[in-house]
Amino acid sequence: MKISIFGLGYVGAVSLACLARDGHTVIGVDVDSSKLDLIRAGKTPVVEEGMVDLMARVAASGRVTVSEDARQAVLDSEVSLVCVGTPSAPNGSQDQSAMLRLAHDLGRAMREKGEPHVFVFRSTLVPGTVEEVLRPIIERESGKKDGEGFHACFQPEFLREGSSIRDYDKPPFTIVGANAAAPVEKLRELFGRLPCEFYSTSVRAAEMVKYCCNNFHALKISFANETARLCEALGVDPFEVMDLVCKDRQLNISPAYLKPGFAFGGSCLPKDLRATLHMSRMRDVELPVHAAIMPSNRVHIDRAIAKVLESGRRRVGMIGLSFKTGTDDLRESPLVLLAEHFIGKGLSLMVYDPEVHLSRLLGANRRFIEQHVPHIGELLCAELTEVIAKSEVLVVGLADPRVLEGIERHAREDQLVLDLVDMQKRAGLRAQVLGLCW
Ligand SMILES: NC(=O)c1ccc[n+]([C@@H]2O[C@H](COP(=O)([O-])OP(=O)(O)OC[C@H]3O[C@@H](n4cnc5c(N)ncnc54)[C@H](O)[C@@H]3O)[C@@H](O)[C@H]2O)c1
Repeated sequence: MKISIFGLGYVGAVSLACLARDGHTVIGVDVDSSKLDLIRAGKTPVVEEGMVDLMARVAASGRVTVSEDARQAVLDSEVSLVCVGTPSAPNGSQDQSAMLRLAHDLGRAMREKGEPHVFVFRSTLVPGTVEEVLRPIIERESGKKDGEGFHACFQPEFLREGSSIRDYDKPPFTIVGANAAAPVEKLRELFGRLPCEFYSTSVRAAEMVKYCCNNFHALKISFANETARLCEALGVDPFEVMDLVCKDRQLNISPAYLKPGFAFGGSCLPKDLRATLHMSRMRDVELPVHAAIMPSNRVHIDRAIAKVLESGRRRVGMIGLSFKTGTDDLRESPLVLLAEHFIGKGLSLMVYDPEVHLSRLLGANRRFIEQHVPHIGELLCAELTEVIAKSEVLVVGLADPRVLEGIERHAREDQLVLDLVDMQKRAGLRAQVLGLCW
């Protein structure tokens, strides 16, 4: 393929070298002439393992040219990979000035081009940038429409500095965000041979995945480091602890707990987090990430409360009360907190939970209920259909398929369903469905 690459920093230079190595003809474009001179001389503009040899080899192959002329590069290629920098502005926002200037140049070049062209944005971009900012610029400047004269798509880059050639050859996955099949197929041709899964998705989801991955990496590092600080204070070997933590592939290093849903609760997580924070305070160890977890959970609960209150409906039916589906444990259940709040706000409340039978609650579980919602017994109803019939808004906190079937069968058009569990079969419901944050 004939490929132009805009921005020859870490991402662009490594892509240029690897694509030329793989037999493609590559035109590199940068506004920094010193980088162009280095590449012309077969030298690498970035310090990366393997790049010295690789740049010398691909420069000698004759498949690499470099230029400051964006227009000519678009005219002479079928695909453009855009890898210019998107650093932080002083207020923390993304500085897109280089990208915006370039988008104008790319658009103007497209005005002269008869053949179709694929623009692949590879720089990290805040969600919405390609469709709401860059595409309109290219359309305006070129006089052509996305999907007709050209395609604009987004493919996040996952390489890490220091191991970028290895990461280029073995990324965690390839993700292409596009609005049409043609650019996806073009990129499958280019990257489909890599030893990883190839996913196509919406442009915005692809933009967001990159942020989510980087935020998750940062969170993991801070979590491990905070754990180490606490371990040091407690005289525990942090390497041994984190090594063992990582050996659990069922709950720790796995998709478990990573699906959006309702707040956590129950008899373990809140109390153990509190004890962890107490240990840290007693030893003057600062754990800001750990300390932010309970407040973050509370924000999630408050969001559910706000959605019900904002609906203006006063008769609430809660489906589910225990802290998760399949248990009768009510201790620190976020659904109990919701019930407590609705009662406090004077809403009329009915609750259905097939697992919860007050007469059978014992010990700490019983004490929790007596302390938080002592009158819950009067509000519990054994019949799902009765709760549905008497409510204006249903708050669904149970993922039990039988219960969801009941809601599907009996919920009415005039009702509102607040879905806290990502209900399947939402489409089949007569009621209006509101997701918690989806
Ligand atoms: N560095 C990484 O490890 C990494 C990994 C994944 C994603 N990213 C993302 O990729 C993007 C590029 O990162 P980088 O580290 O390679 O950046 P970089 O700062 O090293 O390089 C950016 C290059 O773009 C050039 N440039 C600026 N305006 C230009 C224009 N109008 N035309 C052509 N070139 C222009 C600059 O001169 C510079 O050489 C960023 O959005 C970054 O967030 C970086």
